[in-house]
Amino acid sequence: MSALLSLRGVTKRFGGLVANRDVTFDVHEGEIVGLIGPNGAGKSTLFNCIAGYFSPDGGKVFFQGRDITGYSPEKVTHLGIARTFQIVKIFGNMTVRENIMVGAFCRTWSVSRASEEAEAWGTFVGLGGKLDYMAGELTLAEQKWLQLGRALATRPRLLLMDEVFAGLTQAEIKSAVNLIKRIKEEKGITVLIVEHVMDVVMPLSDRVIVLDNGEKIAEGKPEEVSRDERVIRAYLGEE
Ligand SMILES: Nc1ncnc2c1ncn2[C@@H]1O[C@H](COP(=O)(O)OP(=O)(O)O)[C@@H](O)[C@H]1O
Ligand SMILES: [Mg+2]
Repeated sequence: MSALLSLRGVTKRFGGLVANRDVTFDVHEGEIVGLIGPNGAGKSTLFNCIAGYFSPDGGKVFFQGRDITGYSPEKVTHLGIARTFQIVKIFGNMTVRENIMVGAFCRTWSVSRASEEAEAWGTFVGLGGKLDYMAGELTLAEQKWLQLGRALATRPRLLLMDEVFAGLTQAEIKSAVNLIKRIKEEKGITVLIVEHVMDVVMPLSDRVIVLDNGEKIAEGKPEEVSRDERVIRAYLGEE
């Protein structure tokens, strides 16, 4: 199994603060990988280094064997990596359909084609009945589904999700979990989920990677990692 995404020694500094230190791991095609760790561990920073929002100060990011280190977010998206944001970013004064069309325009110039794609992905994420609603009128959960629909409309090979479960009710978390499973199983998309809360992501992930203080402290199957002493200590230290 060759890696879809590979990080090799990725380091990112903000002034004197090392947010990511020498982080190395692979994500294979067809996997759901959880990237977990306490608040401030460096998860979002690493995510932004992969998605082209930050250029790492050291190390390399490879996608399908190609060195994409320092590529712009647009270029990264075109190559097949889509993302959602920890703090929901949608176009509030545009409709659900139009929001998803923005993603679809990554692959087509045709307005009617993009609109069809928006209907298909809108329906897939459960917003089929709200395509003509203004995005700003949606609930937080619906806005999260919308972000996901827009990301999927770019037709990614790899989907990066930053804290999708934060702020959701138990019932909404359940729908999100189902949706993520369907993204993998029905669409064949590889998923990297960044999450602070371990409970939800553990049963969903084929493999987890744990960050603490900017460093990778553990990697493996969820059941192994949740017994790892360094991981337990990192999470206990948070309380
Ligand atoms: N743009 C930034 N400028 C300066 N410091 C930042 C910036 N983004 C994140 N940090 C710092 O980097 C560290 C890691 O943050 P972050 O990647 O957001 O962690 P996580 O997503 O795991 O909670 C934190 O100490 C945070 O304050
Ligand atoms: Mg974060």
